Amino acid sequence: MKSQKEIIADALYEYLGVSQDEVTATLEYPPQPELGDLALPCFRFAKTLRTSPQSIAAEAADRLQQSGQFEAVEVAGGFVNVHVRRNKVTSSLLSDAAVPEHLFSKQRHSGHTAAVDYSSPNIAKPFGVGHLRSTMIGQAIVRMLRADGFTVEGINHLGDWGTQFGKNIVAFRRWGDENAVRKTPVKELYQLYVRFHEEAKQHPELDEEARLWFKKLEEGDEEATGLWNWFIEESLKSFRQTYRLLGVDFDHFLGESFYNDKMDAVVEELREQHLLVESDGAEVVDLSQYNMPPCIIRKSDGATIYATRDLAAALYRHDVLGADHLIYVVGSEQKLHFAQIFKVLELMGREWASNSQHVSFGMMKYNGEKMSTRRGKIIYLEDVLQRSISEALKIIEEKNPSLENKEQVAEDVGVGAVIFNDLKTYRIHDADFRYEDVLNFDGETGPYVQYTHARACSVLRKAEAAGYTSATAAAAEGAAPLIDSEWALVHHLSQANEFFERAVDGMDPSIMARFVLDLCHRFNRFYHDAPILTAQPEIRAVRIALTETSQRVIEYALYLLGLKSPRQM
Ligand code: ARG
Repeated sequence: MKSQKEIIADALYEYLGVSQDEVTATLEYPPQPELGDLALPCFRFAKTLRTSPQSIAAEAADRLQQSGQFEAVEVAGGFVNVHVRRNKVTSSLLSDAAVPEHLFSKQRHSGHTAAVDYSSPNIAKPFGVGHLRSTMIGQAIVRMLRADGFTVEGINHLGDWGTQFGKNIVAFRRWGDENAVRKTPVKELYQLYVRFHEEAKQHPELDEEARLWFKKLEEGDEEATGLWNWFIEESLKSFRQTYRLLGVDFDHFLGESFYNDKMDAVVEELREQHLLVESDGAEVVDLSQYNMPPCIIRKSDGATIYATRDLAAALYRHDVLGADHLIYVVGSEQKLHFAQIFKVLELMGREWASNSQHVSFGMMKYNGEKMSTRRGKIIYLEDVLQRSISEALKIIEEKNPSLENKEQVAEDVGVGAVIFNDLKTYRIHDADFRYEDVLNFDGETGPYVQYTHARACSVLRKAEAAGYTSATAAAAEGAAPLIDSEWALVHHLSQANEFFERAVDGMDPSIMARFVLDLCHRFNRFYHDAPILTAQPEIRAVRIALTETSQRVIEYALYLLGLKSPRQM
């Protein structure tokens, strides 16, 4: 159904001489309820209409009044303040809410395909808390884009190629223990790698050895290839466990090595287009005109690098996977890299490259401190999740010892706490991680949202047991006027689509996280102020319907963010 903003826009756009969308975008939510539910500031129309904002407001108010669709319309200075018919808004909310997805999305992007590159950890290196951000922001973006109509190809661009594998091979051959690697592959391989760097300080000949092993790997040497494959296999086992716990999935695991046989074509094309120049024996694309350092395509020893593979990957995503939007969820330290890639694609005449986007994000700090991945000082995500789950279990044991399914709920809550903490921060900002904060049931946390959802479920269970039904949309329209806390809830729920579109347009899940937090605050105030099951039947039915809608909307918003919604906690 049409939103109140759309109804106002329909009534006014012709008079104001702008599009409906422009009217919608100009409408504001007034800070105080006395000023109405929606306000139209008329200042920006004064120039084109050649009259004062006050008289525009007066004319606009007249037109809105005549439409007969609103409770009251007032002029205040250059503003029109609109009081909506609250029961009507409630009724249209209830009729849309049957499928919660429809409250959020208008499927604006159907017919388009987006390739979303997220998580993309490196083989034989730990999946640190920092990689969590890419994984969870990426997963949320995938779900939001799908909801908005995109066909999405979710891609894990594993770091499975590069000279470091020469070092991994040397370290394993010299000091490695097969059983230890099988037991905790990533930790063990990473420790070997750290050891390599330490020993190479004393014994620089190790670097030469590593170079030779990488060369063997490139040439398809059996031992080198065998070890490399095994590193990938073991690392993937461990990554997959983490993904299972996080509830994250991908449509494709296409590591960097997948592009090894697709690189010559890229280099050839760049050469034919006269984009390659020589620089100290290396082949590069000069980007000085665009104030960027050159993009290195082939090093002086002939080897291709990270950037070359990203070019090949971009062509693959467009040409083979059919993507017209390329999205990369990668930390802000790779800003220059992606700016270079997008520029080179543009120089190669790929117009679709202008739809590429580097969705970057701030760093994850741990108890306020930056983590250092050098020197092996790293926090393993797996450990963080396990500890969060066991802390959640402790809390459940305290609060609700007789709960069925405790282990599963503790997992949903413990993991959800970590994910929500990550997503609620505006993505560009650094995120901080503290167990006390992320698991606080009264804070702005995953557990708080999940708990509110479980509370709504519990009301609905009781209503069902008592045989109480919820109000239909038509019944809600004719019901008694809403009290303030009911309206505050309805008003927010009916903005789901606005929040959703802002989250998609800004590629920022934190906007959805804010939406659901505010929804929970409002639901809890409503729950506190308005007796539900003991109210008289007509009012009770409306309150049950609002509880049901809140429950569905919280559950759906949490799904978009990648959290589970347990029904009991
Ligand atoms: N493996 C890289 C890293 O951990 C991230 C890869 C991001 N994706 C890409 N297409 N470059 O830093």
